[in-house]
Amino acid sequence: MSQKRVLLIVGGGISAYKAPLLVRALEKRGIGCRIILTKAGSAFVTPLSLASVSHNEVHEELFDLTQEAKMGHIELSRSADLVLVAPATADLMAKAAHGLANDLASTTLLATNKPVMMAPAMNVAMWYHPAVRRTMETLRGDGIHFVGPEEGEMACGEYGPGRMAEPEDIACVVEGFLNGKAVYGSLAGRSAIVTAGPTLEALDPVRFISNRSSGKQGYAIAAALARAGARVTLVSGPTALHDVPGVTMVRVESARDMLAACQSALPADIFVAVAAVADWRPKTMVDVKLKQKSSQGSPNIALVENPDIVATIAQSGTNRPSLVIGFAAETHDVLTYAALKRNNKKCDWMVANDVSGDAMGGDTNAVTLLTPNGHQTWSQAPKEQIAKRLVDTIAQHFSAAAN
Ligand code: CTP
Repeated sequence: MSQKRVLLIVGGGISAYKAPLLVRALEKRGIGCRIILTKAGSAFVTPLSLASVSHNEVHEELFDLTQEAKMGHIELSRSADLVLVAPATADLMAKAAHGLANDLASTTLLATNKPVMMAPAMNVAMWYHPAVRRTMETLRGDGIHFVGPEEGEMACGEYGPGRMAEPEDIACVVEGFLNGKAVYGSLAGRSAIVTAGPTLEALDPVRFISNRSSGKQGYAIAAALARAGARVTLVSGPTALHDVPGVTMVRVESARDMLAACQSALPADIFVAVAAVADWRPKTMVDVKLKQKSSQGSPNIALVENPDIVATIAQSGTNRPSLVIGFAAETHDVLTYAALKRNNKKCDWMVANDVSGDAMGGDTNAVTLLTPNGHQTWSQAPKEQIAKRLVDTIAQHFSAAAN
């Protein structure tokens, strides 16, 4: 079998310094590299170090007569099994989205007839900028594959998504892709609905029944799904959290409004019910427009049951999302109750969440994921990390189903 080959385009971001490590990681897997280094990229990594690790000359100029004589730029763009852009800067991505061709890298991306994969790397504010959101949507629509970005501490000192995926991870995704596997972590083309936060059930115009849910876990899952390429609708009860960029936000109050919002967001491939839905609502609330007076004495509050949102969505016939995931909030016999809820609510997966500590409202969580194939426990970690693990598992599930 002939050696697999990647054409690596190194853009001008700080993570370009990791490009030699990426070349090494690819070579370790038997994947050879031809390299294009952009002018901005050469400010972070030298052509000499890339040439040394790849054992190939590094291409920099569009109209370099010496290089063109050996291999024209069109031929170069088709010389590999995959064109990999790492780091993919906001500038390079925007050029590719708009079909610009004013240097060797952008011309190659326009001229290639091979699959293209990008490893975005930029500051978190840039990643969330509407212009970059539009770029991502266009590139996904054009069939570009993505690996990362990762969430974490950035070179500029800020925290969030935008950091280039680690070279080993990129190489691993590339290897899988060249062996015919769907891109791990990619949910491009999938749609998801996430519920989050508490619901609020009014007793009168000023009082209500609610719970301590902060919405943090659900918001983190919505953000991670969006980062993996899914089209996400986040149906949120009242929270103090900001909208999640790149996600369609629907803010509701009551359980019944939350159900209606979820139903109008269908169809979707994935439904993740993270909301802590109030099981009961005051029976008379709909008629009571007047504030109850304390002089009326201790109120007798009759309650009626709210609809079960996840169970309703899981039994919505042809509109049923193919993967329905619930979150079971338990304080004791966590796995037993979670398994019961998975069955009773007709969920595919149930995430067992021990809320006897400060998981509800706190920044970390420890969960056990129950699926028809068994269960896996993820120890105490920031809610963003739990979200990423869940989304990676969702992506694996869809990629296994597709292969
Ligand atoms: N859920 C829902 N609609 C409800 C109640 C719960 O969609 N009316 C969903 C939650 O979003 C979660 C799952 O069901 O995904 C489990 O919620 P949980 O509060 O743990 O369970 P309950 O059904 O409320 O049962 P209990 O309070 O008795 O433990």
